[in-house]
Amino acid sequence: MGAEIFVILIGPMGAGKSTIGRRLAARLGVSCVDLDAVIVERAGCSIPDIFAEQGEASFRALESECLKTLCEDGKKKFLATGGGAVLSEANRQIIKQSGFVIWLDARPEVLAKRIGGDRNRPLLKGVKPLQRARELDVQRRPLYKSCADLRIDTGKMKVPQTIHTIIDAMDKTSYMM
Ligand code: S3P
Repeated sequence: MGAEIFVILIGPMGAGKSTIGRRLAARLGVSCVDLDAVIVERAGCSIPDIFAEQGEASFRALESECLKTLCEDGKKKFLATGGGAVLSEANRQIIKQSGFVIWLDARPEVLAKRIGGDRNRPLLKGVKPLQRARELDVQRRPLYKSCADLRIDTGKMKVPQTIHTIIDAMDKTSYMM
């Protein structure tokens, strides 16, 4: 049987939310759900297409709707969110109330190296990745901070060490049952 946990991963594009979420969930025997993947399934088209055809506001509305559904379905899981899921106050409230919130962080220089040239991320279209990563960092860092129970700088450790650190921290905070 899987552990009785609901963990929400937040943080900027390229911080490793999906990868680390999947690995952690597998290790602890729970499922991992990727919010972006659920949005794509619900919309029936890719994230760049949603942005291009319906605009960012429609994407954000869909993101909020899917986040709410996933946080209220009563199923224990690791939930990897998209970098902008913390933008709305309502989303932040849902995130904070729903489980243990891990902020996977990294400096803009590190993120830009990881995400530069990724065509699946509309916020990077036509801009220099480092410049965009810096702008988003200024705008969103306080929002991530306001939600997080734990912050990990993924630029400073490799994936196995990150996973070990998170499990250790969850153990210490008695989050793990
Ligand atoms: C976004 C991040 C993306 C995706 C969308 C918007 C953002 O998810 O939700 O492109 O606003 O930062 P990742 O953080 O998984 O790349």
